[in-house]
Amino acid sequence: MFAKVSYSSIVFAFVTFFACYLQLVSGAALPAAELQKRDVFTPPVLYPHNGTVWTIGQRHNVTWDVSNPPKQITNKQGLILLRKSGETTPVVLENGFDILLGRIEITVPWVVDGDDYSLVLFGDSGNFSPEFTIQGSGVQF
Ligand SMILES: *[C@@H]1O[C@H](CO)[C@@H](O)[C@H](O)[C@H]1NC(C)=O
Ligand SMILES: *[C@@H]1O[C@H](CO)[C@@H](O)[C@H](O)[C@H]1NC(C)=O
Repeated sequence: MFAKVSYSSIVFAFVTFFACYLQLVSGAALPAAELQKRDVFTPPVLYPHNGTVWTIGQRHNVTWDVSNPPKQITNKQGLILLRKSGETTPVVLENGFDILLGRIEITVPWVVDGDDYSLVLFGDSGNFSPEFTIQGSGVQF
């Protein structure tokens, strides 16, 4: 009798262990599958680059590398914001374009002169351009 109880508790222990093992295995497999579904597309900005000088009111094509897009892109809506001194500003250069276009024409906004401007291009996540110069306001800040 004692041996029988002991045997079934061993079986129970095995079943419990196996159930936990299965949970671990499937738990470990789930995030990987979800990661594949939500590939993050953050194409590098090609222009403007280091050394670029823009003048207020000019039109320019911001360009980015679309040579390696993931199969599934969560957010295809592009957004470009202006950054200054390493901080993202509320200035929108363009919004709502297809991130797979690889370029979008923008108008240089009316901002103070500076050589510490950059852009952040958002698809799924943000990607910064190198720093460049905007001039034309005559205002140093
Ligand atoms: C940008 O270019 C300047 C000179 O043209 C150089 O001094 C600087 O290191 C460059 N910055 C980067 C991030 O490449
Ligand atoms: C931007 O690129 C398009 C396509 O190449 C071109 O037609 C347009 O003239 C360019 N705009 C500027 C401001 O260079």
